[in-house]
Amino acid sequence: MSKQTRRHFLWLTVGTLTALGSVSVNAEIKRQQILALDDPKRRFKVVEKTSLKHRAFKKGRKLLYGAAVRHDQIAQDGLYAQNIVNECAILTPEWALKWHTPNKPLRPSPLEFDFSAADASLAFTQTHGLLLRGHTLVWHHSLPPWFKNTVTKQNAKGYLEQHIRAVVGRYAGKIHSWDVVNEAIEEGYLLHKGRRDGLRNTPWLELLGTNYIDYAFRLTREVDPKALLVYNDYGLDYDTYEDEAKRNAVLRLLKHLKSKGTPIDAFGMQAHLDASKHRAFKPAVLRKFLRNIADLGLKIMITELDVTDKEIPLGPERDRIVASVYEDYLNAALQEKAVISVQTWGLSDKYTWLSEFQPRNDSSQVRPLLLDTSMNRKLSWNAVARALSNMHVPTPFKHT
Ligand code: XIL
Repeated sequence: MSKQTRRHFLWLTVGTLTALGSVSVNAEIKRQQILALDDPKRRFKVVEKTSLKHRAFKKGRKLLYGAAVRHDQIAQDGLYAQNIVNECAILTPEWALKWHTPNKPLRPSPLEFDFSAADASLAFTQTHGLLLRGHTLVWHHSLPPWFKNTVTKQNAKGYLEQHIRAVVGRYAGKIHSWDVVNEAIEEGYLLHKGRRDGLRNTPWLELLGTNYIDYAFRLTREVDPKALLVYNDYGLDYDTYEDEAKRNAVLRLLKHLKSKGTPIDAFGMQAHLDASKHRAFKPAVLRKFLRNIADLGLKIMITELDVTDKEIPLGPERDRIVASVYEDYLNAALQEKAVISVQTWGLSDKYTWLSEFQPRNDSSQVRPLLLDTSMNRKLSWNAVARALSNMHVPTPFKHT
């Protein structure tokens, strides 16, 4: 090997070791920063074993606690179903009322409706005296495989009308609230030159124009005058440039809809949280956003609360950090009296969408929810229980 080659090989080795060293140093710095979120003094002590729904439904506020569920999971897992009934006052079908999902899709073909999963979900709630939400009528995900080659600008309004009249009509009077439109505002739209109004370029926007939102709400109100009508969205929780931009775009959309008389009753705050981002959570920022929404005359539903622990190192700190995120977030959110419900997106780690959507790099079981895979209550259950028990309940005005 020539002298020059040896010298190149040496520099290459030194360079690689330095790079690897800096990667592992950076990883360790990030690990320490995340573990610094832990406060070992927080015990999340709860008094009594009272269920979450009973802690929430306190006189003077009557907040609803619940979860998203899949009909097949509650049918096949009696222990899970029992915990759902025990803890929840209101349920959201995770799949059954979307246009398309892997199991018993609602819209198998352009001319067909399969209501079996949704009917099963309704029957379960009626059997156990629970409320049922509808999720979701207009979304850019979970569209059937036939949609793209079938629905055109000429027939899109007809397909949407047919869907809403059939689905909302079948359950009219039995649905607490409908997520009429889901995720219409695009996160990061300012950063990557999206539309100035922040609207996501969904198939619905492309097919029907910007009026698709108002149209969907008006038709849903006509078909089911009793249901609360909700606009539902995510990515609004943190004191970051991107979340602030999206909060402003959501507020502009809601103001616009209210100004044109769109029949919208509530905003759905999905609240899919990330434990590793908790340093960017500022209670005052969340409360200001919720207050701005309430000032539009809208109720607020926390619709899909969960806390991904994907970036949290294994160890005793993990559940404590996730629990602190739940308690800090709900302590802030529940100060807003316009908040009428809190739902987690699932109840047990055994059935969380995050196992698939936010798996851990160490391949260990994710632990984002309130019960573990054996349905035992976790610290995050305690955290939610504490926040519900401690929430502000407006004292009724006493005439002197
Ligand atoms: C998710 C479900 O949990 C998954 O099982 C499915 O594969 C994709 O959709 N925001 C929403 C929910 O409004 O409908 C999504 O649910 C999660 C993000």
